[in-house]
Amino acid sequence: TAGKVDFDTPLAIPPLAEAEEDPSGARVFNLEIKAGTTPLKAGRETATWGINGNFLGPTIRAKRGQEVAFSVYNGLDEGTSLHWHGMHLPAVMDGGPHQEVEPGGDWTPQWTINQPAATLWYHPHPHGRTGNHVYRGLAGMFIVDDEESEALPLPKTYGVDDVPLIVQDRKFHDDNQFDDKSPFMSMQGVLGDHIMVNGTLGPYFDVTTRLVRLRLLNGSVSRLYNFGFADGRPFSLVATDGGLLPSAWETDRIQLSPGERVEIVVAFEPGETAVLRSHPADEGYEGPLGRVNGAEDLLDIIEFRAAGTLADDTAIPEAMGAAPDLDPADAVEERSFSLSGFSQINGESMDAGRIDFGVREGTVEVWEVSNADGYMHNFHVHDVQFQVVSVDGDEPPERLRGWKDTVQLVPKRKYRLAMRFADYTDPNLPYMYHCHILAHEDTGMMGQFVVLGEGE
Ligand code: C2O
Ligand code: CU
Repeated sequence: TAGKVDFDTPLAIPPLAEAEEDPSGARVFNLEIKAGTTPLKAGRETATWGINGNFLGPTIRAKRGQEVAFSVYNGLDEGTSLHWHGMHLPAVMDGGPHQEVEPGGDWTPQWTINQPAATLWYHPHPHGRTGNHVYRGLAGMFIVDDEESEALPLPKTYGVDDVPLIVQDRKFHDDNQFDDKSPFMSMQGVLGDHIMVNGTLGPYFDVTTRLVRLRLLNGSVSRLYNFGFADGRPFSLVATDGGLLPSAWETDRIQLSPGERVEIVVAFEPGETAVLRSHPADEGYEGPLGRVNGAEDLLDIIEFRAAGTLADDTAIPEAMGAAPDLDPADAVEERSFSLSGFSQINGESMDAGRIDFGVREGTVEVWEVSNADGYMHNFHVHDVQFQVVSVDGDEPPERLRGWKDTVQLVPKRKYRLAMRFADYTDPNLPYMYHCHILAHEDTGMMGQFVVLGEGE
């Protein structure tokens, strides 16, 4: 079922969001959420939503230690929110369902970037409507830098050899409008047959350097991608959700469920072209309904076209980030979570008024998460990056050895995740944990926890 794609449109690179410094030294970003139209296909323009534009949003870039402040204006005629996926920050700044911004209203979160360099993203998180809002176009990348990452020889010129790739599928009606209903009518999520990268259909990218770093984000509402090149060339996995790996891992496939990110570095020869594809899934999606969430699809995604001469002044260093170092023996609490059907965790659906449990600030916990039935799910936790300790009792595979905030849950397997809750407490305002297949999240496959300080 390989979608034949004509790669005839240059890849759009989301602009870097501009920031002004306020008197306190915070970098202030203005983000305006609005409705508009976008010329995606020949003929009628598509009604879309965007942030500071008509589709998707700018890339936000900030460095560890910086104070960032946002002025988020909601120009839509319904409420929405912006959640900073993967960010370690106070619950009141998290942008979840408890921080919805009404139409015409604004929201001004502010925090200090307090985590290692990583590829994060932002998207709405209104209760029950996240999938619809992301599908219409609300999403963007959030790149965190730090001293160590800036000193590495890795490719790092944004849009040149350090390229964001927000990969999303869409289904269009005959009049070029997004089919934004049917993705949510089936609990598997009906899958789009058009793949967009940064909002571009049929994208190509002109390569001018031997090494290119790709920041891949599965920004789809339910599709699973198994990224790899059509010619089978290897690439180096250098980062997962929470940041750089201790050392690069060479592979030719990387499977990402919705919400997950990786950074890979690919080498090109002068004058060649190479197509990045999504291949049929490597593992795990043979449930009672067969292969789901697009796991059997072969889709062409983007073509890379290398120039006749390529600059060659970057490298993949031996040592990059810090290895996850939590010791499950330090856990003060073990909890288990079983995802079942399309809308329940431990037999319950999300209730915005119910806080499922409290964790203690400064402690490590181990969460054992399992996918009880044959459908595809994944598991995302707000505020923290976690360490996958084991999968069905075994060492995690290479691709899960870095910090993660979202992990695929292969049916019937048990994942033990270690995480440490630190720095921010609030006895009343919760963080979320949920399946990031947005149709499932929106029908209630989500729970809430608070982080408690001393005496709370
Ligand atoms: Cu990407 Cu709770 O979200
Ligand atoms: Cu799910």
